[in-house]
Order: sequence, then structure tokens, then C-alpha cells
Amino acid sequence: MNITNKNKRRKFLKNAGSTALFASLGTSFLVSCSTSEENVDPTLPPDETGGETGVGFTVDGDVYTFDLTHSSFTALKSVGGWKRFDQGGMLLVNVGQNIIRAFNSSCPHAGCRTSWGYSNNNFRCGCHGATFNNQGSVLSAPGGTGDLISFTAVLEDDVLTVSK
Ligand code: FES
Repeated sequence: MNITNKNKRRKFLKNAGSTALFASLGTSFLVSCSTSEENVDPTLPPDETGGETGVGFTVDGDVYTFDLTHSSFTALKSVGGWKRFDQGGMLLVNVGQNIIRAFNSSCPHAGCRTSWGYSNNNFRCGCHGATFNNQGSVLSAPGGTGDLISFTAVLEDDVLTVSK
């Protein structure tokens, strides 16, 4: 092997070694990052300074449990309060008499999920203007549009459980 080939081989091994090292460290780094995020306990009580911790909900399979005292969900404590909950693909709304309803946020017309508004007890999809009452029944929409898909929602004190 001449000197030029030796230098090329040395350079290749050096680069390959760096790549392998980076890949190895990178994988470990990503694993540890995702592990720390998954370890967030949304049910943790407020810290000693009175601030809140966690994200305000937990997921166990298809069951979502919400802490309505968490700032992300306190709107649901008021009649007419609603929330588009993208992490679970849901629309949540307080319809009064201590009842919260939950619907699939996929619009039955063409599947838009992020253009929802709520007023006068009705949901409106901004994509093409379909409207639904707070029981999920379609009021007006392009032809053939069905009702919103409902999920089972149970409210006990400040804990809301939704089963998809
Ligand atoms: S996707 Fe909602 S109205 Fe068309």
C-alpha cells in the first residue's frame, strides 16, 4: 500500500469512527431525552411555591384523564367552556348541569381537525362551514355530512375521564 492509499484509509477510518461515535452518542442522547419527557407525571401536586406541575392529563390506552384544576383545562369548568384537545384528537365542551361532552375532532365532512370554533352552543368547522349542536348532531353542512363521533365522558369532581 503506498502512502496516498494509507492516508486515504486513515482518513476514512477517522471519519467512519466519528460517525459511529456520533451515531452511538446520538442514539443514547435521544433515548435519554425521550425518556425524561415520558417520565413527566401529570398528576403531580402543585409544587411548594404554589405553581403547578405536569401537563394536566394522563393517557392509558384509549382512556384520557384530565385534571380540570390544571390551567390547560380550567376553561372546561365553566358552562360553555370548550377545548380542542389535539393530543387526543378531541373536542371537549361543558354543556352545563355538570356534563362535559367529548367528540372526535375530525370533521365528518372532510376530516379537518384544527378549524373549530364554538359559540351559541354550536360547533362550527371553519374549513367549509359545517355546524353541529353540542350533542354532536349536524345542523348544516355540505351534503352527506354525518354527526360528530361521540366519546364517553364522565366528570367526577374536577376529574374528567374520556374513553375513545
Ligand atoms: S371539513 Fe369540516 S366543513 Fe368541510
